[in-house]
Amino acid sequence: MSNLHHPHAAFGHFAAPRYTARVTVLPQLTPHEAAAALAAHREPFHAGYYAFYSTALGGIVTAPGLMVVPADDHLVHRGDGVFETLKCVAGGLYLWREHVQRLLHSAKAIGLRVPWDEARLADITAQVVRAGAHRDCLVRIIVSRGPGSLGINPYDCPAPGLYVMAHELKPSFMEAHPGGARVVTSAIPVKAGFFATIKSCNYLPNALIKKEAADAGADFALAYDEQGNLAEGATENFGIVDADGRLRVPGAERILSGTTMNRALELAGVLVRDGRLSAIARGSISRDAVRAAREVLVFGTTPDVTSVVSLDGAPVSGGVPGPVGRALLALVQRDIRGNSAVRFDVFKGE
Ligand SMILES: Cc1ncc(COP(=O)(O)O)c(C=O)c1O
Repeated sequence: MSNLHHPHAAFGHFAAPRYTARVTVLPQLTPHEAAAALAAHREPFHAGYYAFYSTALGGIVTAPGLMVVPADDHLVHRGDGVFETLKCVAGGLYLWREHVQRLLHSAKAIGLRVPWDEARLADITAQVVRAGAHRDCLVRIIVSRGPGSLGINPYDCPAPGLYVMAHELKPSFMEAHPGGARVVTSAIPVKAGFFATIKSCNYLPNALIKKEAADAGADFALAYDEQGNLAEGATENFGIVDADGRLRVPGAERILSGTTMNRALELAGVLVRDGRLSAIARGSISRDAVRAAREVLVFGTTPDVTSVVSLDGAPVSGGVPGPVGRALLALVQRDIRGNSAVRFDVFKGE
C-alpha cells in the first residue's frame, strides 16, 4: 500500500511518546502570586497601553500585564464577540454614537444580548479614558459572548463580557506619510456578506489581508468580492474618484459600513456644491474602474482619509495625493477636532 493511502501516513508510526527529561518544573501559583506576576509583567509593546476595564475584573487597571481576558471566554477560543475601535482626540470621542450604534447592531446580528445601554457604555468608556490620562488615544470596546466553557455553544455562557481599553493613538497615515499610500490587490477571499457587514471578532481574513500588504512592502491591501467588485481592506474602506469626477464607494452589502467613510461622504457634499466633485454614489465598482480611477481613497478610524499613490506598482493620480483626497482629509480632520456635534467629550463630567 502506498504511504499516501495509509490512514496514519501523516502521523508516522504509532508509539506512545516517552519524554524522560523534565526540563522545567512549573510552579503552581497562589492567586496572590499570579496577580503579582501579571502586574509585574513588562514588554516593550506595553508602552502604549493606558487603561483597561473588564467585567471579569469588575474595575479598571493601568498595569498592562493585568489587561487580560479569561481563557474560557468564547471570545478567546471561538472569536465569538463584537467590537469597535474609536479615537479620542483632545478629549473627544469622534463619532461616538455611530460607533455605539454599529456595536449594538453587530451584537444584535449575532444574537448577543448587550445589558449595557448607550449611557452606561459612555460612562464606562469615559472612566477608562480618564484613568488612562491621555486625551489623545484609541479606544477598543469589545462585547464578548462571555466566559462559560471551552465549547462552541454560545448558550454555555451565562453573561456577556465587556472589555474596554484605552491605548496609544499614532499619527494618522497622511501625517506620518504625506506622500500617500502604496496599495496592493489582495488574494484573500472576502468575508460573506453577513459576516462582512458586522464587526465581529473573527478577523482572520482581515489579518491575512494586512499580512499580504506587509509582505508586499505595501501600506494596505485591497480585496475584491467574487464578482470582481471592490470590497474593502483589512480594517478600512476604499473609494474612488472616477474620470467624471464622481466620488464612488461600494454598496453596503459586502463591506463594513465605515463610520469614517459615511461621515466623509456627508462632508463631501460641500465639494459637490463647489464643483470639485460632480456627484457622490454608492454601488458596485469594478476592478477596471479602480484601475482607471482619478483618485483612490482609503477611509478609516486610523487612516482618516488617505490618498493612494500606487496600486500594484502602477501610479495613481500621477503618484501624488489628489485634490479630492486632500480636501476630504482636511474636512474630516476639522470635523474631528472642531465639531462638538459629533464628539463625546469624556472629560466633561470630571
Ligand atoms: C473591515 C473594516 N472595514 C472598514 C473599517 C473602517 O471603519 P471605521 O471608519 O468605522 O473605522 C473597519 C474599521 O475598523 C474595518 O474593520
